[in-house]
Amino acid sequence: MNTKITSITEMKKINRKIVMLTCYDASMSKIFSNSDVDILLVGDSLGMVKLGYENTLSVTIDDMIHHTKAVKRGNTGNKLIVSDMSYKTYEDNPKEAVINAKKLIDAGADAVKVEGGEEILPSIKEIIKAGIAVVGHLGLLPQSVEKTGGFKVQCRDEESAKKLYKDALLLQDAGVCMTVFECIPENVAKNAAEKLRMPVIGIGAGKYCDGQVLVSDDMLGMFSDFTPKFVKKYANISPVIQEAVRSYVYEVRAGIFPQKENSYK
Ligand code: KIV
Repeated sequence: MNTKITSITEMKKINRKIVMLTCYDASMSKIFSNSDVDILLVGDSLGMVKLGYENTLSVTIDDMIHHTKAVKRGNTGNKLIVSDMSYKTYEDNPKEAVINAKKLIDAGADAVKVEGGEEILPSIKEIIKAGIAVVGHLGLLPQSVEKTGGFKVQCRDEESAKKLYKDALLLQDAGVCMTVFECIPENVAKNAAEKLRMPVIGIGAGKYCDGQVLVSDDMLGMFSDFTPKFVKKYANISPVIQEAVRSYVYEVRAGIFPQKENSYK
């Protein structure tokens, strides 16, 4: 297995929290990859935060390839890159799943992430058999929001909590290297994370997971269409950008910009 992946999975054994952040372009990749973040996730959340779609369903494999290549180019800090397989590129057809997973690896990803448990196990097994590392994703599955009735907390009852753990075990046994748990009660995530060998990366799954992931545009305050309860804004960049743009417009209109130092003789 890729040594970058092994060094991350080892972190669970020494009780060091894993930090993942979504990343979609080269300039952010340069910044994040030179920080202490462990994993850059080229999430299909790019559909909402970068491409202006309502959900992730319109994102294509070509979109994922395009953004993975950009993140790879900016990854001067050599972080582990995980790329999401987009909707309808892996679920029902294991052979197609391998072809599409290879496209993301060729674009620069170290591993691919897929959403779901038992129902997509044949595709997961085939991708792993092809030598490609797979990251799982359980709980709230953004690619299934139309089936599951929107962005809601999952696993609130015992039966669905049991199903989540059973799915996680199936993924682990298939060789999945780590799994994202999205939007589930803290005690459900804690119970599963304690029993599983593979690291569990939480988003809206409480503090007992082996690591955390956030959508970078959410935590930087750059995306305001919808902010889930689990997001913490570590910065509020939108007003900073608005103020910079306001000053620029004012100075151009007033003839203040450009000055001599911004002009060529
Ligand atoms: O696409 C994404 O950003 C994700 C995170 C929510 C984990 O899958």
